[in-house]
Amino acid sequence: MSKVIIMDHPLIQHKIGIMRRKTTSTKEFRDLVSEVAMLICYEATRELPLADIEIETPLVKTIAHEIAGKKLCIVPILRAGLHMADGILNLIPNAKVGHIGLYRNEETLEPVEYFCKLPVDADEREIFVVDPMLATGGSASAAITLLKNKGISKIHFLCLIAAPEGVKRLTELHPDVDVYIGALDERLNEHGYILPGLGDAGDRIYGTK
Ligand code: PRP
Ligand code: URA
Repeated sequence: MSKVIIMDHPLIQHKIGIMRRKTTSTKEFRDLVSEVAMLICYEATRELPLADIEIETPLVKTIAHEIAGKKLCIVPILRAGLHMADGILNLIPNAKVGHIGLYRNEETLEPVEYFCKLPVDADEREIFVVDPMLATGGSASAAITLLKNKGISKIHFLCLIAAPEGVKRLTELHPDVDVYIGALDERLNEHGYILPGLGDAGDRIYGTK
């Protein structure tokens, strides 16, 4: 069963509140995507294993801790996931980055794949798939299926805003994937947009439309 973690941290709720406003500028929106992604990443990496290492402080020898286990890889779903990845790289600068390009067919709402480039050793890494919006769940599910078909097994999914419909679809299709959500909204509208949501994340990040 997937673990579904809805972040209830005041900083995240405050920042998402600003992102929802239609008057928020492109620059401010973009900065907030990356800030909220960092805060969610803090929780999503809570269970990373640690190893003890001996170090010397200026005063004595001591045991410190360093992240051990599988190396990490961030996989943004293009294009809106890119800015989440930039934020997360501030915290995990040594992670590699893969890219999956998907867009939703506006009529069927089903994802169409147009790009996939992963690190050569992606199947040996722990993967964090990132996309601001989990609406019908089609894009996230398709991206994760694509990764699994390439032999990748340890996958987490991080988003800023989710609809219940998307959470259901993703967790039913991929019960082995833990899902980290900034805010869980009410529902989808008839065009597959999240309500209340924040509109089209890609358009708001890049100032298109
Ligand atoms: C948005 C969003 C997700 C997808 C979510 O991308 O960034 O990838 O929709 O919807 P779903 O859960 O119903 O699949 P979009 O297809 O608009 O592409 P873009 O990032 O290029 O704007
Ligand atoms: N994609 C978005 O960017 N926003 C939504 O509300 C749904 C899908």
